[in-house]
Amino acid sequence: MINLAILISGRGSNMTSILSSIQSRKISNVCPKVVISNILDAPGIEIAKKQFGIPTEIILPDGKKGWDYDSKIVNILKKYNVTCTDGLICLAGYMKILSKEFIDYYPFRIMNIHPALLPSFPGLNAQKQAIDYGVKISGCTVHFVDSGIDSGPIIIQESVPVYASDTEETLSARILEIEHKVYPNAINLMANDKIRLKNRTVIID
Ligand code: GRF
Repeated sequence: MINLAILISGRGSNMTSILSSIQSRKISNVCPKVVISNILDAPGIEIAKKQFGIPTEIILPDGKKGWDYDSKIVNILKKYNVTCTDGLICLAGYMKILSKEFIDYYPFRIMNIHPALLPSFPGLNAQKQAIDYGVKISGCTVHFVDSGIDSGPIIIQESVPVYASDTEETLSARILEIEHKVYPNAINLMANDKIRLKNRTVIID
């Protein structure tokens, strides 16, 4: 059984899809332990508490950066028994860059979802980057987190078409719909020992 922590900064729709998938047993072998936010009034926090009854923690940066801040998250994760050997930390719209120390503490135990087909369009405003570039296909990527920006080993990707009439909003909505399926799938694979790494290639058994 994997102990799961979800880190958010905002509305938490991916968090909601993960917690719903655990509830409906589309994800097995995962116990959601805590939702953590760096933003006081992140709407996802209320959803985690009220809709799912999951403990929540808010850790305000208070001017702290890097490991000074991230070590506080580690303490919370320890409190909820989300460990570097059998825990999983899912970033779901968490808008703060993790320190190298934090990432090294949880090797291949941190996942992120990105609204583009990496390695294209990493970083902020991925959907706008895709539209501005003029690609005809975009999508989403679930990957392990390494110390680069959206550069860790890719676990699953799924594509959507990009239409000439698309705006950032319409493309974001189309991508978000598949994000809500792809992230739970990736977590379920990990929790059921279906993921192996060969160099930086994730092999799904
Ligand atoms: C999603 O588009 C995700 O891909 C990106 O941030 C957004 C978070 O949305 N990393 P939500 O908070 O999960 O609704």
